[in-house]
Order: sequence, then C-alpha cells, then structure tokens
Amino acid sequence: MMRLTLLAAGFALLTGEPALAQDGSPWATLDGSAPRIIAHRGASGDRPEHTLEGYRLAVEQGADIIEPDLVMTLDGVLVVRHDHYLSTTTNVADIPEFADRRRVQGERDDWWVEDFTLAEIRTLRARQPWPQRDHAFDDQFLIPTFEEVLDLAEELGVPTEPEVKSPGHFASIGLDPLPELVRILRERELDGEDAATAIQCFEPDFLRRLNEEVDTPLLMLVFEMNELDPAAMMGTPTVALADAAGFADGVGPAKSLVINEDGSNTGFIHEAHELGLSVHPWTFRDDVPMNPDRGVEWELRQVMRFGADGVFTDFPATGVRVRTEVEAAFE
Ligand code: G3P
Ligand code: CA
Repeated sequence: MMRLTLLAAGFALLTGEPALAQDGSPWATLDGSAPRIIAHRGASGDRPEHTLEGYRLAVEQGADIIEPDLVMTLDGVLVVRHDHYLSTTTNVADIPEFADRRRVQGERDDWWVEDFTLAEIRTLRARQPWPQRDHAFDDQFLIPTFEEVLDLAEELGVPTEPEVKSPGHFASIGLDPLPELVRILRERELDGEDAATAIQCFEPDFLRRLNEEVDTPLLMLVFEMNELDPAAMMGTPTVALADAAGFADGVGPAKSLVINEDGSNTGFIHEAHELGLSVHPWTFRDDVPMNPDRGVEWELRQVMRFGADGVFTDFPATGVRVRTEVEAAFE
C-alpha cells in the first residue's frame, strides 16, 4: 500500500527526517527512520491530560507527535477528552449549576460530554486523574476543541494522531462524529495521504467508513482478545492484522501484544510490517511499568529494538531519552 509509507513520510516531512528507509539504517522500523515519540494525551504525566498546556509541554520535551482523543458535545463539536464522562478529568462535580445533569448511563453515574454544549464545557477546568501525579495544575486549564489542538500543532510544527472515541455510541444518539471530522480534515487539507495527521480508532467500522471519505492515514487500535474473554487465545489481537491491512495504514496495539512479560519479542511488529502496517504500541508510563524492578525504560528499549514505528507515552521526555540511548548503542 502506497499510503502506509506515506503515513511515516507525511510525519517525516514535518520533522525534517528522511521520508523513506535509508540503506543501512539501524532501526527496524517500516521506513528505517527513528521511532516517533507520541505524546499520549499530551505530557499527561506532568500536566492534566488533553490540555493545550500539556501538549505544549510535550513538544518542549521533544515529542514528535501529539495525541488528542476526541468526543462530541451536545451541539456537535469535537472536543478533546479520553472518556465521554467528565468527573475524573474535570471539576464538573464541584459546579452547582451542573448538579442536575448527573445521570446513570450503562453502569456509570456521571456527567456526560454529550449532555453539555461547548459553551458549558468551556466553564469546566481540567484535573489530573492519576492520584500519584502532580495536582498543582488542577482546575486551571480549559478543555480544548479538536480544532484548537490542530491550531497549536500547526503553530508548534508537529503532526497529530487523533483518536475518535466511541463513534458507535455517539452515532447511536444522533452525534455521529464522522461528518464533523471529515469537514475539519478537508477544510484544513488534512484529507490527503501525505497529511500531517493519522486518525486512530478502536472501531473498525468507523475507520472503514472514514476510508471511503478521505485519504488521511488510518491507525487501527487493537488490544488482546483475552482481555475480553480469558478463555480466548493469548496474544490474539481483537482485529486480525490482515483485515486491518485492508483499510488501515498502521496499527496501535496494546503493548502486551508486542512485548512478552519477560521482555522478549512476540513477533507482532514483524508480522504487521510484513503486511505493510506501521506499529504504534501503547501506553508507556514511568509510574506504571510492566516490571517495577526494570522500569519503563526497559520496555521502551525493547520495543524500539523490535522495530516499533512510534510509541505512545505519558512521559515524552523519557521516550526521547531512551531513543537517544538506543540509537547511541547502534554506533
Ligand atoms: O490511542 C492509543 C491509546 O491511547 C489507546 O488507549 O485508552 O489511552 O486511548 P487509550
Ligand atoms: Ca488514545
């Protein structure tokens, strides 16, 4: 597939790196360039996630790409949040005017982004959801729109890797995110195969639909089948790689699909590369390593050696440091 090379190439154009694999590159990535450091929800280890301040810090720390997760407001605006409930990452529970908006949906009693207009979302402030992380920045930063993150990315000269969250749910309540996403991509000329963006999603049907509308690179997110059903085969991705290769340019696997608990290679990256798919595993966290004795650096080192094309991390500075160390060891 031509587009899969261009997924890397589009990013390479912005970072000034060579677009195509160079003869003799020590990196086992699809295009031979160094793995990209993707700021997962911004520099979310150091600042409240999904805030312009967190994205700006991520780029200062050396991130190559910034990741916004996208959800829809009541009035159809794409805003940047991981969950469509609001209590864990905002101060919504402390605002008396919104007390009556709380409601049960599924098994959760919460405030829901689809019940709020953008103007109402603007009155909220972001909070750090992880108890062990720095809370000094709580209740200061706004919840940005997707377009504001794109503006910032343009200003800072970095590509984005947005993830559309729960598109099936939003479509079922009359808030299909696809038309609005396509509008934004076209308006900003991010609808081509060399766009400085790649759209991620856990729902293959959404990516299949999007693939009909734009040529923007697409990243199919996968996790392990056994997370859904313990009886299922260990290490089996929720979407077969061969299927993903039919409509996507890359895959974003849970890191357990890429690296075994003992640090050995599962072979997933090689298999994906054989199908022409780039691989961006998630999520590497300094404060939640797979193996506390070895730390997150060990995980990052291993997956970079295995050929990961990008890594999602809450701590971009750590990713950059480990990449430099791995590169130095090649010499
Ligand atoms: O999008 C890659 C990774 O972020 C998927 O996990 O739940 O953090 O969005 P999540
Ligand atoms: Ca995500």
